[in-house]
Amino acid sequence: MKIKVFREPAKLQKWCRARKLAGAKIALVPTMGALHDGHMSLIRAAKRRGADEIVVSVFVNPVQFGPNEDYEKYPRDEKADLAKCAAEGATAVFFPTPANMYLDRHSVYVNEEDLSRGLCGGRRPGHFRGVCTVVAKLFNLAHPDFAVFGQKDYQQAQVIRRMVRDLNFDLKIVVAPIVREKSGLARSSRNAYLSDAERGKALAISKGLGELKPGSSLKALSRSLEKAGLVVDYVECVDAETLEPRKMPKKGCCVLVAAFCGKTRLIDNRVL
Ligand code: PAF
Repeated sequence: MKIKVFREPAKLQKWCRARKLAGAKIALVPTMGALHDGHMSLIRAAKRRGADEIVVSVFVNPVQFGPNEDYEKYPRDEKADLAKCAAEGATAVFFPTPANMYLDRHSVYVNEEDLSRGLCGGRRPGHFRGVCTVVAKLFNLAHPDFAVFGQKDYQQAQVIRRMVRDLNFDLKIVVAPIVREKSGLARSSRNAYLSDAERGKALAISKGLGELKPGSSLKALSRSLEKAGLVVDYVECVDAETLEPRKMPKKGCCVLVAAFCGKTRLIDNRVL
């Protein structure tokens, strides 16, 4: 079956509603495009869970970017994204435009006010407001039985779970493991910005996280990143559920890293 392509929110919504009424199990895979193996693993996770329809949304959501961030230069390649989705077995792709997602005088936003305060939320004001708003809209458009997110964006996954719980969205959140390159580097669309030399430096992140043990020093991890030539945005250990700060890594914690490699901000994490 040929993959369906939707650009109009109302058309996607109509089709998903009809498929749902016909008894289809719908999976949503929200993405910002520039699809890589990590995204493909989300589509595969949807397949494994028996979805009849797998809807991949590809939308670089302006509302989640800060004024000095990479919204303009974020990689976009619709043709390649469509081909990858089709090859992996997605059944529909949604390519909306900012103008049809955010109508003139759009004025309603979703704010999560607990889990989004620290980590990336603390450094990127408004980021999770943008994420929650667009994801809530996608849920309303696609009527998914479940939606699949990647663990690389650990805080995002927790924030979205909370949104689903607190706003009574009738769907399940599936979080798929981080997919890494052979070198260990976590797959990210932003890796496309890295030069070869920067890729070498970036490896310090996955290496450092991989070597962590209960009781390891976060300061030492931070120093090893700086030594490799990265500029640390944060290295933090939090409770894996509540995201409350913990002094040192131990079981049930998540250690999260955000660091600049040149101009590129990379994130990675490890649950102990
Ligand atoms: O993780 C992402 O790519 C984005 O934050 C998401 C969930 C697609 C919302 O724009």
